[in-house]
Amino acid sequence: MGLIPGQRVYVAGHRGMVGAAIVRKLQAEGFNDIVTRTHHELDLTNQAAVSDFFATEAIDNVVLAAAKVGGIHANNSYPAEFIYQNLMIQANVIHGAYKKGIKDLLFLGSSCIYPKLCPQPMAEESLLSGYLEPTNEPYAVAKIAGIKMCESYNRQYGTRYLSVMPTNLYGPGDNYHLENSHVIPAIIRKYHLAKLASERDLESIQDDEKKYGAIPADIKKGIGLSADSTSLLPQQEPKVVLWGSGRACREFLHVDDMAAACLHVMKNWSPAADAPSFLNVGTGVDATIGEVAEQIRRIVGFTGETVYDASKPDGTPRKLLDTRRINDQGWQPFFSLDAGLKNAYEWYLQH
Ligand SMILES: NC(=O)c1ccc[n+]([C@@H]2O[C@H](COP(=O)([O-])OP(=O)(O)OC[C@H]3O[C@@H](n4cnc5c(N)ncnc54)[C@H](OP(=O)(O)O)[C@@H]3O)[C@@H](O)[C@H]2O)c1
Repeated sequence: MGLIPGQRVYVAGHRGMVGAAIVRKLQAEGFNDIVTRTHHELDLTNQAAVSDFFATEAIDNVVLAAAKVGGIHANNSYPAEFIYQNLMIQANVIHGAYKKGIKDLLFLGSSCIYPKLCPQPMAEESLLSGYLEPTNEPYAVAKIAGIKMCESYNRQYGTRYLSVMPTNLYGPGDNYHLENSHVIPAIIRKYHLAKLASERDLESIQDDEKKYGAIPADIKKGIGLSADSTSLLPQQEPKVVLWGSGRACREFLHVDDMAAACLHVMKNWSPAADAPSFLNVGTGVDATIGEVAEQIRRIVGFTGETVYDASKPDGTPRKLLDTRRINDQGWQPFFSLDAGLKNAYEWYLQH
């Protein structure tokens, strides 16, 4: 069937970065009958609660953007939570939708499903062709299970359960807590704080810390902020310290482009019932972290020094998705990296 006007769409994870962008996009396209539940209202790991929810709500289409998500540190520290919660959320929502007779569902996966030593750019055919990156293997295994669950239901039950594998996302709704943020929000915040320090605007630094969480000690040191955030050291030129060499290549997609891709796929893509039902979503273009940082530095307007701490790991040298399949389906991203970064910085300043 697909996504068609007038449908009642359940967006699981609507307060998350991706779920919120999908809700905005659905609303912009005239889908006003959107069903949402917070984690507190409906714990998707609870099979009975999810089953009751589907039994009582009339829903035509499901977007599964709820997941336990985190960076390397969280994945490494809490592997059991990552595999358990994601498997449960997926299994409950996918099976609940099927039991209710819902034909259409979109599952959000991740590019970490591909093997650690995957040829670049990473094509859909590379799934299950090698060992996964050990640090997030439990999370990746759950995501692969989600894809395979959708494909199995399509094959056996004739559903149209599709999956999309986003590259690194950034934009409105991103997490700016420096302890666990992704690359782009971390760099944006570091440059912004350094700019405020060079303007000796202590009040705005303190406001930023209240809004976006504690500033780690090494960043305070770099910008000359006292340990208790109450003063700026005199005569210190603020500098920004970035992790790694700056030479690792990464791909970044604006979250509004991701939302647009989700709707495009839901409306237009109907793979055969026995064919793979997942697509990569990215820009198909990567840049070095150093290049991205330089773009952000210019947008933020920081004129001081940037230092690369090469003692910190770079991670995989290159990670880029092969996006030819989704491009062949008629989808292209709208935002250039520059325009997307400007938009992300504006959101950061306003929230
Ligand atoms: N952000 C990225 O760069 C990126 C990249 C690739 C793939 N993805 C994928 O995109 C999806 C969404 O990611 P995101 O960045 O939007 O994550 P996010 O901001 O952390 O949001 C996750 C959402 O899931 C909900 N949730 C988590 N556990 C739940 C539970 N047990 N019951 C009900 N709701 C629960 C949360 O609800 P509450 O807000 O109510 O707590 C939250 O709204 C994930 O599948 C992720 O793997 C994201």
